[in-house]
Amino acid sequence: MSAPEKPQYTGATRGKNDRAAWFQGASATCSDAAQPGGFTWRLVLLGAPGVGKGTQAYLLNQRLRACHLSTGDLFRAASRLSECDRSPAMQAAINHMQRGELVPDSTVWEMVRERATCIRCVGGFVLDGFPRTLGQAESLKQLMSSQKISLTAVVNYELPLTEIVTRLSGRRTCDKCKAVYHITSQPSKFEGLCDRCDGHLFQREDDRPESIKVRMEAYECSTAPLIEFYKAEGTILPIAATGSPDEICARTISALVARAGTTADA
Ligand code: AP5
Repeated sequence: MSAPEKPQYTGATRGKNDRAAWFQGASATCSDAAQPGGFTWRLVLLGAPGVGKGTQAYLLNQRLRACHLSTGDLFRAASRLSECDRSPAMQAAINHMQRGELVPDSTVWEMVRERATCIRCVGGFVLDGFPRTLGQAESLKQLMSSQKISLTAVVNYELPLTEIVTRLSGRRTCDKCKAVYHITSQPSKFEGLCDRCDGHLFQREDDRPESIKVRMEAYECSTAPLIEFYKAEGTILPIAATGSPDEICARTISALVARAGTTADA
């Protein structure tokens, strides 16, 4: 059997990460849509809460131009809507999130399916926080195979629990652009203010110790089994999440490039 053809760089014009459409639902169009051509990175980031998926998704977007799509950010954006603008399903989802529990698959899938254009996009994606259950993984697989596209890789970030708890308890998030900081390892230049957009930094409600415990349990019970699922699919790529964010990103890209047989500039 001949070896699969290596993807080639053909000079794509990439979207810059216009996540506005991802947050706006079914009818929204992307103001910065990518054009066909080049290598399309379609990545899923796996790993326990706080391992650094959001931080890496941002850096991977900067390097690979694939759009950062986070379901956690989607729910946090919805939680900022006024109560009368939230559907009952969305209100229930927000309550689950604040307790640290997983949002039911049906609600998550409804929101992701509404933005199926982001999954199909030729600019590619870095999915952060989705899929998180076997049911969600099956739904994504069906959607992608109906579009005749497949995942490039599923990056599984690994880190000892003690380090994860340190990362979570010091995290601060921008209320406008959702940039992520840490009070000691990644502080903003001016305390409480985002370097990128001057938004205010806040501590997430689910970063309280009681919610962290529930989130870790949900991860072990529902999300960790995805590692076996994607091993069986042949897409899993384990990456040590130790070191600085830039070091981890460089490690991730080297492994991705070796896996996909292309260059990071593609
Ligand atoms: P979500 O937002 O996806 O949260 P999570 O998976 O728990 O992950 P986190 O965002 O907590 O952590 P992260 O791995 O992104 O780490 P980060 O980069 O921020 O989901 C939240 C909730 O929404 C869920 O609990 C659930 O209720 C609901 N939900 C979302 N999607 C769902 C789905 N598909 N199904 C069901 N429910 C769903 O980094 C953490 C901290 O560490 C930061 O302070 C950062 O600055 C710091 N840091 C990062 N890297 C480093 C480093 N290398 N060195 C030192 N510090 C670092």
